[in-house]
Amino acid sequence: MTEQQKVHPVRDDFAANAHADKAKYQAMYQQSLEDPEGFWAEQAKRLDWIKAPTKIKHTSFDSHNVDIRWFEDGTLNASANCLDRHLATRGDQTAIIWEGDDPADSRHVTYRELYEHTCQLANGLKELGVSKGDVVTLYMPMIPEAAVAMLACARIGAVHSVVFGGFSPDALAQRVVGADSKLVITADESVRGGKQVPLKDNVDAALTRPGTEVCEKVLVVKRTGGEIDWQDGRDVWYQDLVDRQPTDCPAEEMNAEDPLFILYTSGSTGAPKGLKHTTGGYLTYASLTHQYVFDYQDGEVYWCTADVGWVTGHSYIVYGPLANGAITLMFEGVPSYPTHGRMGEIVDKHRVNTLYTAPTAIRALMAHGDDVMASSRRDSLRLLGSVGEPINPEAWEWFYRVIGNSQCPIVDTWWQTETGGIMISPLPGAMDLKPGSATLPFFGVVPALVDSEGNELKGATEGNLVILDSWPGQARSIWGDHDRFVQTYFSTYQGMYFTGDGCRRDEDGYYWITGRVDDVLNVSGHRMGTAEIESSLVAHDAVAEAAVVGFPHDIKGQGIYIYVTLTDGVEPSDALKKELTQWVRKDIGPIASPDVIQWAPGLPKTRSGKIMRRILRKIAANECDGLGDTSTLADPSVVDELIEHRVNR
Ligand code: PRX
Repeated sequence: MTEQQKVHPVRDDFAANAHADKAKYQAMYQQSLEDPEGFWAEQAKRLDWIKAPTKIKHTSFDSHNVDIRWFEDGTLNASANCLDRHLATRGDQTAIIWEGDDPADSRHVTYRELYEHTCQLANGLKELGVSKGDVVTLYMPMIPEAAVAMLACARIGAVHSVVFGGFSPDALAQRVVGADSKLVITADESVRGGKQVPLKDNVDAALTRPGTEVCEKVLVVKRTGGEIDWQDGRDVWYQDLVDRQPTDCPAEEMNAEDPLFILYTSGSTGAPKGLKHTTGGYLTYASLTHQYVFDYQDGEVYWCTADVGWVTGHSYIVYGPLANGAITLMFEGVPSYPTHGRMGEIVDKHRVNTLYTAPTAIRALMAHGDDVMASSRRDSLRLLGSVGEPINPEAWEWFYRVIGNSQCPIVDTWWQTETGGIMISPLPGAMDLKPGSATLPFFGVVPALVDSEGNELKGATEGNLVILDSWPGQARSIWGDHDRFVQTYFSTYQGMYFTGDGCRRDEDGYYWITGRVDDVLNVSGHRMGTAEIESSLVAHDAVAEAAVVGFPHDIKGQGIYIYVTLTDGVEPSDALKKELTQWVRKDIGPIASPDVIQWAPGLPKTRSGKIMRRILRKIAANECDGLGDTSTLADPSVVDELIEHRVNR
């Protein structure tokens, strides 16, 4: 039996106490398809509505009229759902366990404290002139204030746009301008792996860029006390602002379809796009998926290792868990600091029950051998989860055996920034697991596979993954550019949401995501567009042309392989490679660091001038025998030249 065919049946003890066993999953899934209105009307009751919705689903995927609305006449407040309604029953229970970068640093924040801090900041935001509908950019470390800032925005109806703290000043500036954001919340520095990252300096640099004059104020949390520049009139210390505020703040009544947040993500073309998520549907979906996929039981300690800068952090560190009254662990650091045993040590220290992490982190640990986990027992764990990229069966088995002591089911959760919440995943009491497969769709999700013409493929097959009907967590638009939203997701295949992923379905109906079929890279679970990296490179004087492709990488999943054609008269050198690497890191951020740069005197192009990336991908993957038809190239000899000078790894 190959690794791919191995099955881990549902554990009986798990199924017995789970929110859903096989029969319940089947029944609920059927109902969600046969009667979506009835199903979602019922599920929406898990939230506290100010005015309960009577109109449930109003959605169209028709590319002439993409219109997605859920619960459209209902009103509620997301922050009140994550905080206020828990005060009577669990005000003194921990909401957030914060574990600092330094293992000696940790603290617990109760629901009442989180409520009070959120109200104080919400009042502070009002004092700064922020009101309903304004966009606030968050560029923050993984500290409780990041969750407080998100919830405070939600409380007053401001829209947050969290920008990952690893992005460069230019990337931050682009997002501030794109969202017309009048306030940035940041910290003096963040701390990761014992090193300081100069967040405030980056904000200062970002706000010198054209267009950023829209941003009037910068609110600064003191994290390290490190040296920073200060601009009077613009910069405000967080603590000074919140200390003078009352600990109560009324929650703004929001329509279900009012925006809750924007989150930028990369696509195959153009600049990153700000996906718009709204309030009622998103929160219903984040909360329901968190309960069922992680089989969350009251009082359990749940840890998602993502950063709040990504959608995983939004839905499964903050909104889903807090809406469910869960104990959510937030970790400031990295899994390799001070040693590679850190993740297990955190599990033991806080008696973590659920660990939700990324394949790249698992593969990095696995490379150090089983002993890497010797400093911890991890006997509190009940469930493991994986997200962000395909998990190879070897990494799945290692995660299961070494981290989970062969005791914990693994939920391999497939979803996207655009989907708002988990779409295809095991429910741990209901699905037999196959390592490497995300298994079956969540309630209300209708996946299908289509060929390149959009014909639906039935049975066991492989194709492009589409979703046929709307679900409440879905992004509603791209901020300020609905046409681009329609163009990107609904025009490739008429009447269907196109995910950009390839996928196989096996004879049991299980889904196996094979990776992106467009020009989007997934490097260590970080999503980026080849076009973004290319446009950064061609802005350098030495570069005439650049083509970027992904290649298989043992730890990162995909690495970044760059072909560069130099400007006439520029000589290739190792020093120039270093310079270009630094250039991209500075322009986009360290996550876009090239792994390989190859000098390319010419790039393979069709006679109409289109770069044939298929060929570049094959060369980068060292699959030079299977290049396929190169006869349509304007100059086929460039291919031999590229193969000959391929950079060996
Ligand atoms: O290619 C898929 C991959 O990550 C992409 C979405 O990236 P992002 O919007 O940054 O969201 C990541 C976290 C939800 C998808 O199009 N992906 C995500 N989860 C999985 C996955 N690929 C395979 N298996 C997964 N479990």
